[in-house]
Amino acid sequence: MAETIPTPQLPNELPVVPLRGAVVLPMTVAPLGVSRPTSVEAINKALAGDRMVLLLLQTNDNDDPAPDDLHRVGTVAIIRQMAKGQGGMRVLVEGVARARAEFLQAEKGYLSALIRPLPEHSERSLEIDAHVRRLQELVDRALSLATGLSPDIRTLVTSLDDPLRIAYLLASLLDMKPEDKQRLLEDESVSVKLDAVATSLAREIDVLELKGQIESRAEKEMTDAQKQYVLRQQMKAIQSELGEGDGEVQELRKRIAEANLPEHVAAVANREVDRLERMTAAAPEYQMIRTYLDWLLEVPWEKRTEDRLDPIEARRVLDEDHYDLDKVKERIVEYLAVRKLKGDMKGPILCFVGPPGVGKTSLGQSIARAMNRTFVRISLGGVRDEAEIRGHRRTYIGSMPGRLVQALKTAGASNPVFMLDEIDKITVGVQGDPAAALLEVLDPAQNHAFRDHYLEVPINLSNVLFIATANQLGTIHPALLDRMEIIQLSSYTEEEKVHIAKMYLVPRQRDEHGLKPEQLAIEDAALRRVIAEYTREAGVRSLERQIGAIARKVAAKVALDAAHAGHVAAKDVPDYLGPSRFRSDGAFRLSRPGVATGLAWTEVGGDVLYIEAVLLPGGNGHLTLTGQLGSVMQESARAALSHVRQMAPSLGIAAEMLAKHDLHIHVPAGAIPKDGPSAGITIATAIVSAARGVPVRADVAMTGEITLSGLVLPIGGIREKALAARSHGIKTVILPQANVQDLVEIQEEVRRDMTFEPVATLEEVLKVALPAVAAGLDASPTAGSPGTSAAAAATRS
Ligand SMILES: Nc1ncnc2c1ncn2[C@@H]1O[C@H](COP(=O)(O)OP(=O)(O)OP(=O)(O)O)[C@@H](O)[C@H]1O
Ligand SMILES: [Mg+2]
Repeated sequence: MAETIPTPQLPNELPVVPLRGAVVLPMTVAPLGVSRPTSVEAINKALAGDRMVLLLLQTNDNDDPAPDDLHRVGTVAIIRQMAKGQGGMRVLVEGVARARAEFLQAEKGYLSALIRPLPEHSERSLEIDAHVRRLQELVDRALSLATGLSPDIRTLVTSLDDPLRIAYLLASLLDMKPEDKQRLLEDESVSVKLDAVATSLAREIDVLELKGQIESRAEKEMTDAQKQYVLRQQMKAIQSELGEGDGEVQELRKRIAEANLPEHVAAVANREVDRLERMTAAAPEYQMIRTYLDWLLEVPWEKRTEDRLDPIEARRVLDEDHYDLDKVKERIVEYLAVRKLKGDMKGPILCFVGPPGVGKTSLGQSIARAMNRTFVRISLGGVRDEAEIRGHRRTYIGSMPGRLVQALKTAGASNPVFMLDEIDKITVGVQGDPAAALLEVLDPAQNHAFRDHYLEVPINLSNVLFIATANQLGTIHPALLDRMEIIQLSSYTEEEKVHIAKMYLVPRQRDEHGLKPEQLAIEDAALRRVIAEYTREAGVRSLERQIGAIARKVAAKVALDAAHAGHVAAKDVPDYLGPSRFRSDGAFRLSRPGVATGLAWTEVGGDVLYIEAVLLPGGNGHLTLTGQLGSVMQESARAALSHVRQMAPSLGIAAEMLAKHDLHIHVPAGAIPKDGPSAGITIATAIVSAARGVPVRADVAMTGEITLSGLVLPIGGIREKALAARSHGIKTVILPQANVQDLVEIQEEVRRDMTFEPVATLEEVLKVALPAVAAGLDASPTAGSPGTSAAAAATRS
């Protein structure tokens, strides 16, 4: 039921106060700040009369709005109060009624409007009641959400009877946009007005609720973190009560403080712990830092053992661990004596070079024991990348320090004896030369600040005693070689091996198998048999293994019968070790013509090579070489052949023998690397033997380079070769004249039971190895006439 509320009596013309961003609604009271001269003038005009003004919303923000800048529907308001202030006035206005400005004009400093009142339509209907009730509910909800609304509003809304009044009042209190309020003002229908207010209030409630949710979520997160903090504190309290330290970070701090780290390391460590403390344990970096700190703490920065630099004691320890090796031991004792006088470890790095199993590594251990130092070793065999030595940067997942730092950690002291094993087996990979890192390590001028990529903090290696080992000198990086003092260790003779076995290996194996001295005794003859028939090596490693095998069998018997006494005689050896593995087959091979015994030297020691030559009928002097010969060896075979051809007549070899046959030279045992020129005289001897059909003496072995003119040139490795010959039962060794001086290196016992035949020419070789053939030589023309030698050179392609 619509009913028109009577509007108060309004004048036809009113001064206009334009409002920027504000709408004053009828039936509400609002304060206004008035500062614009036109507005001040309008207020003054009103105050001089019936105190009424028309308030119109500007459509824009113009400072001096023209009639076109104003909405036409506005509120007629009575000025209730006025206070003058600096730069303007404050007025309190009360909205009285809606009105439309029918005509606007600028007049003596202010705007004036001809107005038409707009009557309000107040209806009471179910719809209006529903709207009102909904508004009341919304107000309740808004109030429960702690808005800026005063609780009094509740009473107002319920006590007010006039829906229009409710709409205007709520709208004036809500945070409604001026444009929305303007629309509310202009709309005729109360229900539309109520709905607009309800919508606005509902939106405000939504915002409030959302804000509440966000806040409570934030609060919850906050309390989780706080809860953790509190729990941590409690845990710390409990742990310290139990004497268990206070959490990981605290514990790390304690470890750092106690680790006696050098200042620069402690600084880094503390910085990392600070970072750790600011992270949760679930952070991906946490574990990385944790690991890093563990490494930092485990490097023995300042930890060291007290050195013992007593030469006499050192000698005693070395003797206790190793048989003989006099020269080596003397050198080590000297080295220590110099260190003692100089008071530091700077000086050349010792490098033990020799075949496997001769005690290089164990000497290093012995030196450590003699000096009261810890011992560590890293094997450089197959190391290809610098990163293996120096580590990977921390940014790589799963990165670690390099081998050097790892070994240092194992050593547990900053001054260990550090063995760089197999320094001759480093290879240069794609990612940096490992030798470069080693150069830094071994250089006393640089190694006090070695940098590992992972640790990033310089480490002092200058107190480390580095010892390198190698099987051969040839493949050691020249710059590394330059920093090292080479100590040669060579193969052992059978006698030496027997001694080492008796004094060191047997007692050690006995102990390791828990046997008493009377429970394991191996006769010398048995040891000799093991050496000759079950091992073929320069050192004593597989000898020790075989002795270990015997000890194991004996231990098994003792376990069954405590009274068992393992007494091993030579005849018993196969019972323990099975059938013999190596038996010299030289005599068998040499029973036929065309086979000669050569001596070779490899990184694993000396060896015996049987060189076979065969002349194949129906050929044309073609030469075939088989047995994986290196290029130098191939060339030396050609040189040997050329020389034999040249000498053929004087050697009683028919001319067509070499011209109408193909020659095949074969060196069995494909697994042994064969190169170098030292087989020259052996190949020549084999060819002569094959051509004449006369076998070579079975007890003679030879080594020497041959020239085209038949001269014999010196070669290396005499000592190792002699030992190899001896272990193959050879009685006579032919060697180049120029190598005679090397004979002093050979152990006396070897020199005693072998004959050494120095030679300068092939003729002299043949006199020893093929006496029957050589008998006719004296009458022959001398070797090396220029003409024949040039002809021979042509065969060498
Ligand atoms: N002169 C010796 N006296 C006593 N024992 C020895 C002697 N020489 C070697 N041994 C023993 O032989 C075994 C092998 O020696 P070691 O491991 O030192 O050989 P290596 O020279 O380092 O060989 P590789 O080149 O293969 O590393 C060790 O058990 C060692 O004690
Ligand atoms: Mg070794």
